[in-house]
Amino acid sequence: MTAGVDPVKLMKQEVGKAAADRVQSGTIVGLGTGSTTAYTIQFLGDRLKSGELKDIVGIPTSFQAEVLAKQYGIPLTTLDAVDHIDIAIDGADEVDPQKNLIKGGGAAHTREKIVDYLADQFIVVVDSSKIVDRLGSSFAVPVEVIPMAISPVMRAIEKLGGKPELRMGVKKAGPVITDQGNMVVDVKFDSIDDPANLEKSLNNIPGVLENGIFVGVTDLVLIGEVQDGKPVVKEM
Ligand code: A5P
Repeated sequence: MTAGVDPVKLMKQEVGKAAADRVQSGTIVGLGTGSTTAYTIQFLGDRLKSGELKDIVGIPTSFQAEVLAKQYGIPLTTLDAVDHIDIAIDGADEVDPQKNLIKGGGAAHTREKIVDYLADQFIVVVDSSKIVDRLGSSFAVPVEVIPMAISPVMRAIEKLGGKPELRMGVKKAGPVITDQGNMVVDVKFDSIDDPANLEKSLNNIPGVLENGIFVGVTDLVLIGEVQDGKPVVKEM
């Protein structure tokens, strides 16, 4: 392994590239959010530049993905202009053995869910630290909430057995504001036994826009690992 290079960064780069390699010419591509898919977007741009890949259009899942796509020369479109998405590539905060996910560490899970669920093929890219036996093991469930409903939503979440915490900004006073102008509550549960049911229960609270539990939608998980000092990519 390259001396001094952060192994997590290496795993993210490798897995981000492996996903970009699976994109074919002439396709509509959902562009995920986060530090891992940032490498996917970069490598897609490299493939377009070299001429190896042609005629793709991207649908960004966040302002971050949009900015990166523009930076790396990936043409963009919107859901109003296309009737399908061929492939979406996105990161995750936790992945369980059934390929269910917790997402939203970057507060982008609402747009991510729209784009990722529409894709014919949804590929998740993670480093090995994201693999868990059970969702909620280490990560809280992000819930996007319309600002005027923050207090009743937090009370309703407590009744569901969760411990809600309003996500606060870094280098910004006050709460994190999403790309849609809403707030995010991170909810810790002692144990998530039934992710599908919890996903529905959270979304049924008036004022909740979307939560970060993704059930039964992932086709393939690409996992970046370091073996014998070298980054490798495994499939789940
Ligand atoms: C964005 O809201 C998230 O769902 C990300 O996709 C997730 O947090 C993974 O991010 P990293 O690739 O930075 O770990």
